[in-house]
Amino acid sequence: MTPIRTLVDRDQDKLKSVLPPGLRDLYDGDLHFQTSPAERPFVFANFVSTLDGVVSYAIKGQASGSAISGSDPADHFIMGLLRASPDAIMVGARTVHDTGPQSLWTAESIYPDAKHLYAKYRVNVLNKSQRPLLVVVSGSGKLELGRAIFRMPEARTVVMTTAAGRDALTTAGAAKLPSVQIHALDSSSGAIDPLAMLQLLHAQYGIRSLLHEGGPSLFGEFMAAQAVDELFLTLSPQIAGRTPDAMRPALVQGTEFMPESAPWFQLLSVKQSADHLYLRYRHTGPLSKAVSAD
Ligand SMILES: NC(=O)c1ccc[n+]([C@@H]2O[C@H](COP(=O)([O-])OP(=O)(O)OC[C@H]3O[C@@H](n4cnc5c(N)ncnc54)[C@H](OP(=O)(O)O)[C@@H]3O)[C@@H](O)[C@H]2O)c1
Repeated sequence: MTPIRTLVDRDQDKLKSVLPPGLRDLYDGDLHFQTSPAERPFVFANFVSTLDGVVSYAIKGQASGSAISGSDPADHFIMGLLRASPDAIMVGARTVHDTGPQSLWTAESIYPDAKHLYAKYRVNVLNKSQRPLLVVVSGSGKLELGRAIFRMPEARTVVMTTAAGRDALTTAGAAKLPSVQIHALDSSSGAIDPLAMLQLLHAQYGIRSLLHEGGPSLFGEFMAAQAVDELFLTLSPQIAGRTPDAMRPALVQGTEFMPESAPWFQLLSVKQSADHLYLRYRHTGPLSKAVSAD
């Protein structure tokens, strides 16, 4: 991995050191998260995007973030560091479908070289269980239950679904999988409310921090619900392009904002490795003053 260099660091909490020295050296700095709001977990998201904002080529076999980052080792290292940090990781069903069947959403699977450093940080420093809870969101319940996330005894997976989705999963045999929990939530408005998902995770699983790994449809709904606190965004130095008939999703898909209600962010840090940039933003909400026409 080409070393990561910190270009901007506005971390307010410099007095308390969190990352063990090995990880701090690789990340070129420390990593602090705010404590969770009272009623829900603290939510931070992680994406990689091209210079023109595309997060997936949406081509079978090449739809994942690795095609966007060029399998950049520093991006994978930061993904691993972020996966080692929270109580739970959340993904949408289509992101699961577009990922290999053995994928486990663990820190060590994305950057094995730092496996021991991640484990030491997570267990000894953060005092967390070995692995975060994996939360899969699927309204339809149409999930391939042969995937490792539903079969590996060491994986703990929660599916957030609808009543119809729970029935479909039960028919497919999900109730017999010992490491899988299914929750049917209200979807009378057409989709499950992001805040209802977070409140359930908070109340029933004690989740205080959650890494949101997308995809862009699920992430857009969380942004609209004001349920995202931070965004880690890798900017990859390539342009993907798009045409009207071949949709390549951007960071948010299926949700739109107006200038007066669009979420804004405060830049917390900028890091660099070779030609990639790693941006960290805090969500600050809509811009209060009107945006001028020029
Ligand atoms: N570059 C990156 O960093 C990055 C990160 C993540 C993903 N991706 C890519 O993005 C693509 C997938 O993104 P996507 O936007 O198409 O899909 P997605 O957000 O991963 O998943 C959408 C699906 O999640 C379920 N869902 C979402 N919101 C729901 C709600 N409120 N209630 C109930 N179910 C809900 C639905 O599943 P059902 O259809 O089962 O009902 C829906 O079809 C993949 O190609 C992936 O590789 C890229």
